[in-house]
Parts: sequence; C-alpha cells; structure tokens
Amino acid sequence: MNPLTHVAIIMDGNGRWGLKYKNSRNAGHKAGLKTVEKIIRETLKNKIRFLTLFAFSTENWKRPKKEIHYLFNLLENFLINRIDELHKKNIKLKILGSKRFSPKLNKLLSYSEKKTFGNNKLQINLALNYGSKLELIEAFKKINRNKNKISEQNLERYLQTKDIPDPDILIRTGNTKRLSNFLLWQIAYSEIFFEKKLWPAFTEKDFKKIIIEYKKIKRNFGKI
Ligand code: FPP
Repeated sequence: MNPLTHVAIIMDGNGRWGLKYKNSRNAGHKAGLKTVEKIIRETLKNKIRFLTLFAFSTENWKRPKKEIHYLFNLLENFLINRIDELHKKNIKLKILGSKRFSPKLNKLLSYSEKKTFGNNKLQINLALNYGSKLELIEAFKKINRNKNKISEQNLERYLQTKDIPDPDILIRTGNTKRLSNFLLWQIAYSEIFFEKKLWPAFTEKDFKKIIIEYKKIKRNFGKI
C-alpha cells in the first residue's frame, strides 16, 4: 500500500454550483469553504501531513472585482474565526504565492503563518495569487543570481514548496481535465484524479474513495 503524505487539490466548480443551486456564484464560494473545512477534518483523520489547496491563481485577477472582493472577504473571516482553532489542532498554515492583497489581508496572512509556524500535525499550504510558471521563473532567476548550477536539487531549493514533499495525489473537482498552472514541477509523479463533482458537492466519502484507490496503485516512478 502506498504511503500518503501530501494531497493537493484544485477546488474547481464553486461558481457553477452557486449559479445552479443559489443563483449566485458567490454562494458557491461560501459553500466551497464548507467543503474546505470538511476536507481538512478528513485529512487529519487520515493522518496526512500536507494538504495544498489552490484558492486563487495569478489568472483569477481577471474576474469581476465584486467576486474577488467576496472571495478575499471570505478568507479574512475564515482566518479571523478559525486560526485559533487550527493552531490548537497543531495545524501549520503556509501561503504559496505572492502576498499582494489588501494591507489587512496581508497582515492577517502573515500573522496566521507566524502563529502556526511551529505546528507539525498537518501543514495546509494555501495557494493564493499563485502561478506555477511564475514560481519557476523566479526560481531560475535566483539560481542565476547566485551563480548556482542548474540542477533539480538547486531549482527545488528556490521553489516556494521548498521542504514540502511533492504531492502524492492531485485532485481536480469540477469535471474539467486541466492543470491550470498549478504545481507543474511538483506533480511530475503525482497520481491525478479528475472528479466530476463540483467542489461544493465534494464529500468526505469522495475524498476517502480517492485515497483508497490511490493506495492500490502501483507507483513506478519511471521504473518497472
Ligand atoms: C474555483 O471555482 C474556485 C476558486 C477560484 C476559489 C476557491 C475558493 C474556495 C474553495 C472558498 C474559499 C476558500 C478559502 C480557503 C477561503 P470557480 O469559481 O472557478 O468555479 P467555476 O469553474 O464553476 O466557475
């Protein structure tokens, strides 16, 4: 049975779910946050050490201002209300991506990271204003600046995921089969699960099913 250390998720489908059931994309984001909470609980139950969630991409700035504002408000409230509880549960929060948000949100994100820095039961990496191509370009620039040799090891030292093992599983909900500029380097050998359900409809049971399926896969990493 395969060990499971890291699950990464592209949480797609909030907007479509919200429009279908509540006539509002934002209602879909609100429901999506409920699924985030469920999956965090399930991740703890299954003793998985790393959970990476794609919450906002560098391309998502092209959305209407109102939706962006709603999403960041949701995140702010989540952190204000839940960071103590996450801390008590020994959860570490790390932000992937560049923190170029409102001063209030930037401060809240830094505070949450600092507060939970020493925790080690589960690390949640929240990808916000994250894009994999930009991350790679920045890493190559650092290699160049420091006159390092280009190698896998050196590149990984400069990625934002330094010290985080590569995902064992990548899940994308929302019935779309694409990677959307997410962890392109890090998922080289990940097992990828495309899930038809929209993110707000994704349940603990669906998550558990993927874990069981993953554990049975013969992972070769290029060998036979
Ligand atoms: C993709 O669905 C989802 C997002 C861009 C936002 C993800 C946010 C959440 C799950 C809730 C907030 C989470 C936190 C941690 C505060 P989409 O809007 O692209 O859906 P669509 O493909 O149906 O349009």
